[in-house]
Amino acid sequence: MKNKMNILVLPGDGVGPEVTEEAIKVIKAVSEIYSLNVQIEKALFGGAAVDKFGNPFPEETKNKIRDSDAILLGAVGGKKYDSLEKENKPESGLLELRKKLNLFINIRPIISFAELSNSSPIKSEYISNLDIVIIRELVGGLYFGEPRGYKNNMTEAYNTMKYSESEINRISDYAFKLSEKRSGKLCSVDKANVLEVSQLWRSTVKKLSENYPNVDLSHMYVDNAAMQLVQNPKQFDVVVTENLFGDILSDIASVLTGSIGMLPSASLNEKNFGVYEPIHGSAPDIAGKGIANPIASILSFAMALRYSLDLDNEADALEKAVQDVLNDGFRTKDILSEGKKEVSTSAMGDAIISKLQ
Ligand code: IPM
Ligand code: MN
Repeated sequence: MKNKMNILVLPGDGVGPEVTEEAIKVIKAVSEIYSLNVQIEKALFGGAAVDKFGNPFPEETKNKIRDSDAILLGAVGGKKYDSLEKENKPESGLLELRKKLNLFINIRPIISFAELSNSSPIKSEYISNLDIVIIRELVGGLYFGEPRGYKNNMTEAYNTMKYSESEINRISDYAFKLSEKRSGKLCSVDKANVLEVSQLWRSTVKKLSENYPNVDLSHMYVDNAAMQLVQNPKQFDVVVTENLFGDILSDIASVLTGSIGMLPSASLNEKNFGVYEPIHGSAPDIAGKGIANPIASILSFAMALRYSLDLDNEADALEKAVQDVLNDGFRTKDILSEGKKEVSTSAMGDAIISKLQ
């Protein structure tokens, strides 16, 4: 563990600033309670950076990243930026950040708290205490494949889904290792009945499985996986898949947990440097109202403690504090149900901090 840790916060757009503000309060509280020396820096990113610099990922922010041990990101995007050129869109800044730092491992835990099982449209018997991890490849596939673009006077457009064996190996290796630490069950999701790139994905994962005799590997087509995630989610433990499939499946899976406002994520490179962010977007419709759920952002910080800062005990304590607050019946609007106490974004942050003490 390093003595001094620098956390760079990129609040971004929409509800991003509100939820990261609560995470910052939590970072300060954890730092004080556990006598850590955590420095917090902020920088502009996404639409907020477009407003000031005309660029979603400005030089100033890149420089601050160099001095940081972990990055906590809010959310990016908003209607105002939808008509900008592709390079200037907030989302392009996010993709550039992932690519620049080579964050090929995206960890999306799908954890359903028993207390929230009636916030989901899925019957609680299927989802209560659900605990799945989706490992999404984050810097390859259709999102980044070349060639891409428009042709014939913009009447045609094309993208390329491309993976090399080594790209498939490094992400599945991570998934195998994680499976070994969990229940030993790994499901690799592809579309090998149609796509060559998926056939390579499947054969590469199969070959790698020889190194992991204790992991029970299965393969599933992505359309079936989408259905199975809703119909019988508890059959899954670790799921590994390519970039676009992982994007789509993780949104589907978020429905199982009651609210996308609960779900954190970590994006890591080979050195365990990471960007930690909620799975939810900038939610402009509820921004500025003090009703956004800060739990995804706070749990993202818990993931930073665990994966980049080597502070497992502190991460456990923070996750437990979230659990305790839910047990006490505190709810933001997105997870409110009858008989529970509705609280604002900042009151939720305060309640979690009070459980840490
Ligand atoms: C996500 C988001 C991003 C993605 C967008 C904002 C570019 O949906 O992190 O899941 O598609 O990866
Ligand atoms: Mn997404």
